[in-house]
Amino acid sequence: MELKDYSYAYQHEASLALNQVNYKVRENAVNFVIGPNGSGKSTLIDALTLNTRLGKAAGRVVGPTNNNYLYITQYLPLLGTVRCSEITRFILGNVFLNSHIDLGFLENRVDERVLSFLKHVWHKKYNDLSGGEEKLLQLYLFLQSQKEFVVLDEPSAYIDRRNVKQLFDLIEERLKQQTFLIVTHDVRDIRLVPDSFVSVLNQGKIVSELRGQDFIDREFSQELPFIYDFSEY
Ligand SMILES: Nc1ncnc2c1ncn2[C@@H]1O[C@H](COP(=O)(O)OP(=O)(O)OP(=O)(O)O)[C@@H](O)[C@H]1O
Ligand SMILES: [Mg+2]
Repeated sequence: MELKDYSYAYQHEASLALNQVNYKVRENAVNFVIGPNGSGKSTLIDALTLNTRLGKAAGRVVGPTNNNYLYITQYLPLLGTVRCSEITRFILGNVFLNSHIDLGFLENRVDERVLSFLKHVWHKKYNDLSGGEEKLLQLYLFLQSQKEFVVLDEPSAYIDRRNVKQLFDLIEERLKQQTFLIVTHDVRDIRLVPDSFVSVLNQGKIVSELRGQDFIDREFSQELPFIYDFSEY
């Protein structure tokens, strides 16, 4: 998947949300896009997955083939008083072709971390979960879909670092079969995946591209002063 000389302006906006971006997703790897609020991260992944609408675009997009991708936005779903067990049945029922899923069925079918999380929330109403638990439920369930290409917009927002670590451990175990494009504004996410590819976005432009380990090594140096600007408060 790729953007070539791609620019995008939202409808009725004079300024460009993306400005002459060249970007290529590396397969079977974690691809991070990092940058401050409003830098164009969500617009970039919308463009790559052919989800932009109404605005003005220029350049070329090579999108995901056959729509075979999963895209989890940065927003939490509004699921009210539905029980987590019901949500699980609804989402995983489709994955495992079984509409009567219970915790016993999931044993050995989902990762241990995921199972233990589901046990904890099983009888709770979605409304009664904490913000972080809502986010984790969404991620853990949809990650079971095993799509080739997975786009996660700020998956670590709302989630404590122990759970973020578990999430990235799970993601790293999947890299043989899947490719991840992960948006974040938190440099700590990159520290968890030194093997990743990192693109730094600022004001609609990609200003640096480097491997995760190089990013970690230079994070505090003058070579990436821009990172320091938004990450160290
Ligand atoms: N629907 C829209 N209409 C007009 N302008 C928009 C729209 N969505 C985003 N923008 C503008 O485009 C720019 C890039 O927004 P984008 O959502 O891609 O940023 P982001 O890097 O994902 O930010 P955040 O970290 O806050 O999620 C911003 O200046 C934003 O105000
Ligand atoms: Mg965004």
